[in-house]
Amino acid sequence: MRLIRNKWVLMSAVGFCGAGAILGAEPLHIYSHRHYEVDQKVNALFTEKTGIAVKVVNAEADQLIERLKSEGADSPADVLVTVDAGRMQRAVEDGLLQPVKSGVLEKATPVALRDAQGHWYPFTLRARGIVVAKGRVKEGEVKDYADLAKPEWRGRVLARSSTGGYNQSLLASIIAAEGEKAAEQWAKGVARNLARPPQGGDRDQIKAVAAGLADAAITNSYYLGMLLNSPDAGERKAGAAVRLVFPNQSGRGTHCNVSAAGITKHAKNAEAGRKYLEFLVSPEVQNIYAEGSFEHPVSMDLSLGGQVGKWGAFKVDEAGFLRLGELSATATRLFDRAGWK
Ligand SMILES: [Fe+2]
Repeated sequence: MRLIRNKWVLMSAVGFCGAGAILGAEPLHIYSHRHYEVDQKVNALFTEKTGIAVKVVNAEADQLIERLKSEGADSPADVLVTVDAGRMQRAVEDGLLQPVKSGVLEKATPVALRDAQGHWYPFTLRARGIVVAKGRVKEGEVKDYADLAKPEWRGRVLARSSTGGYNQSLLASIIAAEGEKAAEQWAKGVARNLARPPQGGDRDQIKAVAAGLADAAITNSYYLGMLLNSPDAGERKAGAAVRLVFPNQSGRGTHCNVSAAGITKHAKNAEAGRKYLEFLVSPEVQNIYAEGSFEHPVSMDLSLGGQVGKWGAFKVDEAGFLRLGELSATATRLFDRAGWK
């Protein structure tokens, strides 16, 4: 009788901790650059399904990498998450990640967009697109990144500062495809065409195009998704005033970066880490990202989310993808020379 009652107590404790963790399961420690609401939802679902609690440390990717380096074997981190393939490559070069072999991950992720040895895997695509003012820019008038550097666009373009990762990896992709000289020319052309010195984030550029300050802006597509689905009517109106272009569709494809995750070299809970990486690419989680943060599914299965489905399929620039990290320092130098603040 007593035994049965104790068993019941234990069962109810497990039930009560459903959103927390099964008793005894080691928590999974994640160092993450991502800081979106949707990630909390994904992590809570992981705990619900596996009973493994998730503990997240949020910081900039560079800081997390430095922290992993200085903590060494004592690091509590099991998983590193960033939104930049280049940063993941740097973490590999610094010996901070361990290779993972997983049929699930290999099947779910494009071979061109992941580390060849499995040190990290992508789980969302982040397309660097262009938005144009619906009324003022004709269909087909902007097709490629190169269009924004043309003289007829003088004073009509907006972009955020070159110091952030998004423009650095875009320029790195141009260096990979066209070489340094052409990339510098492009950066010079765009810098010359800017309607104002770079300020604010991608969303601010979209809003400024909607407000008539310029006719085109470089932005990650999910920021437009956020505006279109915002609880704020003004933001929805701004989103509706622009049209999204996926550049370079008749050429090498649109530059995309990825959200990516890898298991740390000194992970204490590598098995839970592998489960987590596999969970991130499951259709259920891919759908949560597509509908919650408007990033593209890593599989490009557009049936997964309303907004990304509406934008339609597009070609991804895969050729130079694995060189983004190696070229990012050159990109920074070229931006400086081009006068793109
Ligand atoms: Fe972002």
